[in-house]
Amino acid sequence: MKVVILISGRGSNMQALLEAGLPVEFACVISNKAEAKGLEIAAAHGVPTRVMSHRDYPDRATFDTALAAEIDRHAPDLVILAGFMRVLSAAFVLHYERRLINIHPALLPAFPGLDTHARALAAGVRLHGCTVHFVTQEVDSGPILAQAAVPVLPEDTQESLGMRVLHQEHLLFPMAIRWLAEGRASLGEHGRVIYSGLSCRSDSALSSPME
Ligand code: GRF
Repeated sequence: MKVVILISGRGSNMQALLEAGLPVEFACVISNKAEAKGLEIAAAHGVPTRVMSHRDYPDRATFDTALAAEIDRHAPDLVILAGFMRVLSAAFVLHYERRLINIHPALLPAFPGLDTHARALAAGVRLHGCTVHFVTQEVDSGPILAQAAVPVLPEDTQESLGMRVLHQEHLLFPMAIRWLAEGRASLGEHGRVIYSGLSCRSDSALSSPME
């Protein structure tokens, strides 16, 4: 399976993917920001990198067309958004239908969009987490591949909660991509993910707080 990763910054999720020993070929890491830390990390792992700044293009459609052309040079089976902080046009999403995967730092469909940890704290939810999902036209929606939940602690700040979620992202993202690469998860009809050889423990639950 050939994979192209899109990033915009730190690249810690990308790093988790690169270091997970996945049965995939990382063809290229593309960043829309030249200063993205993740570019150095990718290069250190021997993965080709490319910067394509959206500022060099007159509008979203033109940028997305150029980005798709660059991605398609690698003929990837999967395009992974790992902290790529740009909304993608409908045409782009359609072009990569069933091949485009994102990680979002909240338990979707709760808290789509930005500032998820602050919003989770403000809402007073007792469980928060992250979601790996197929990308569809609506931002931060689409068939869910995997989720991980963490407790929200009384003393949590955005930062402490964010760190707890990020730790789970680094575990969840490679796991979900491995399932896709090994054919253990796939997008079925009716927009739901189908699993084979994976189980859910029906007797387990994460509740928070606890006595
Ligand atoms: C992560 O929290 C991810 O869920 C979100 O953007 C952040 C990217 O962080 N989409 P990093 O660049 O992977 O460190």
